[in-house]
Amino acid sequence: MPAHVIVGTQWGDEGKGKATDLLADDVEYVVRYQGGNNAGHTILVGDRLLKLHLVPSGVLYPHVTPVIGDGVVLDPGVLLDELDGLVEQGVDVSHLAISGNAHLIMPYHRELDRLTERHLGRQKLGTTKRGIGPTYADKAARVGLRVQDLYDMKIFRQKLDVVLKEKNAILSRVYNRLPMRAVDIETEYTVYAERLRPYIMDTVSMLHEALERQETILLEGAQGTLLDLDHGTYPFVTSSNPVAGGALTGAGLGPRDIDRVIGITKAYVTRVGSGPFPTELHDDLAEHLVRAGHEHGTTTGRRRRVGWFDAVLIRYAGRVNGLTEHFLTKLDVLSELDTLKVCRAYRYQDEEYEHFPPHQSIFHHARPVYEELPGWWEDLTGVTEYAKLPRNAQAFVDRLEELSRVPIRYVSVGPARSQTLERHS
Ligand code: GDP
Ligand code: IMO
Ligand code: MG
Repeated sequence: MPAHVIVGTQWGDEGKGKATDLLADDVEYVVRYQGGNNAGHTILVGDRLLKLHLVPSGVLYPHVTPVIGDGVVLDPGVLLDELDGLVEQGVDVSHLAISGNAHLIMPYHRELDRLTERHLGRQKLGTTKRGIGPTYADKAARVGLRVQDLYDMKIFRQKLDVVLKEKNAILSRVYNRLPMRAVDIETEYTVYAERLRPYIMDTVSMLHEALERQETILLEGAQGTLLDLDHGTYPFVTSSNPVAGGALTGAGLGPRDIDRVIGITKAYVTRVGSGPFPTELHDDLAEHLVRAGHEHGTTTGRRRRVGWFDAVLIRYAGRVNGLTEHFLTKLDVLSELDTLKVCRAYRYQDEEYEHFPPHQSIFHHARPVYEELPGWWEDLTGVTEYAKLPRNAQAFVDRLEELSRVPIRYVSVGPARSQTLERHS
């Protein structure tokens, strides 16, 4: 059996946690393939609300093996706290598997993330300050420490001494901060190493053997297409590749192993942090959507910026991810509005752009070209069949599908597993 990829099509927080948790019912493995604890994936099971940052969203099913893949950056202290929290809530985490190739987030990464953001002042990216960018930068510069280094403390210390010399020079001379001591970091990470030992595995072999046994793998992306380091709204992006291609490198699979690429798509758009956002709203309607959609960040608690559905971005996400279908979320949040807007193209100077513009300046100055659709007043959260949605809600979904050019297969009308309607069988 092949693997399926779950990918956010916008700027993150599309509802990937809910979708992954739901689709994990039918699979044997759920793999996080990139990012780190900048992610915040919320799952509602019964009346229990779980917020996951690093642990894959399949963890709640005993039949699923959750995997942290090679492409992830891992903060061991944060992961252990998250595991302890899950155990306290009665979740069995003993089957978690972690790749030894994942890179470690170190204390100096977190510190440098905070300091560079402060240094950027008004130009800041609005990162989550979890050390994500500095860790991926060290990975690319080939001075990163990996999970497997925890199991040879001599090598760990050698690598740490080399890298810390440079980091301490930056911390003290550029930012006027106290240097960090290698021995303190070594002591702290030695404790983490012991606790993490049972979870460390050759996850690439594990996944390939699963495929050979005809088992199914769900690859769970964090962040979203527009936050992709290569394909997003650079520099206002994260430092990894959330797009479907990143699922292959991040898990160690090949393109022929994938048969479905499921885009998780909010019925409107949100963004946390800085950067361009053509359909952003600033009026009372924005306040209404923030309130109705509970649009506050899962990781940092920041208010999310909100705007109308943007079909230009969704068509782009369809292309760069090779989407086979959409999982549309939060349709229920759009109830009680007279009129809904959908951006079908951008206008810049005298030109209309149907596709994502090739230059950042066009995107920064793009004005959305909207079409209007009639709203509906019914509450959708109790609807159990797609055909029972109000006519205008169905017409809205039909139009989003036409504009997106990829089938919308699922429509979500609330945070719970049961609040999901299948559209095409
Ligand atoms: P992720 O980062 O993509 O996993 O998304 P988050 O968990 O950060 O944010 C999505 C939020 O929307 C969570 O609080 C979910 O419980 C909630 N949610 C998901 N789907 C729906 C839906 O269809 N309707 C409503 N009202 N809330 C939803
Ligand atoms: P999930 O998986 C929304 C944003 C940050 C910032 C930018 C860079 O829950 O969808 P970083 O700390 O990654 O260097 O910050 O990316 N960002 C997210 N926004 N959802 C996320 O994850 C995000 N992870 C990072 O707000 O703008
Ligand atoms: Mg989130």
